[in-house]
Amino acid sequence: MSQSEAPAQLSHAQIDDLRQQALAVAANAYAPFSGFRVGAAILLENGAVTTGCNVENASFRLTTCAEQSAIAAAISLHGSATCVRAVVIVNLNGGASSPCGGCRQTILELGTPDTEVFFPAADGSEVRSTISELLPHAFLLKR
Ligand code: THU
Repeated sequence: MSQSEAPAQLSHAQIDDLRQQALAVAANAYAPFSGFRVGAAILLENGAVTTGCNVENASFRLTTCAEQSAIAAAISLHGSATCVRAVVIVNLNGGASSPCGGCRQTILELGTPDTEVFFPAADGSEVRSTISELLPHAFLLKR
């Protein structure tokens, strides 16, 4: 993408809206084992937003993270050519909620190195980063 085609900066209103949608979907989390309820809202390049929450499983390794749920919804609804522009992650526990390594890989694969990621830090502030900062030297295959 050339410089002139670069999308406009996300506005505070857009980020706030994504945060509200992430908070709303976090209330649907199925987290009986950890009690940690996570929500993610994804803004796609086409302007659509999808959301997802964590879905745990008694066979613990089968748990799905909120980010994975939101990306699965994005791909299901908009196809695999869709591109993730921004991800906002929240939790209802007041703790830090940095995306796990697997989620970072998924976000990068369905986004670009500049995809923005927002998540709560331990001190209650919100971290704003890019996926390439969060996952340097990533493994990628051409798609
Ligand atoms: N979790 C997420 O939803 N996203 C992450 O990136 C990290 C962890 C969920 C999985 C599990 O249900 C709970 O948080 C505790 O690990």
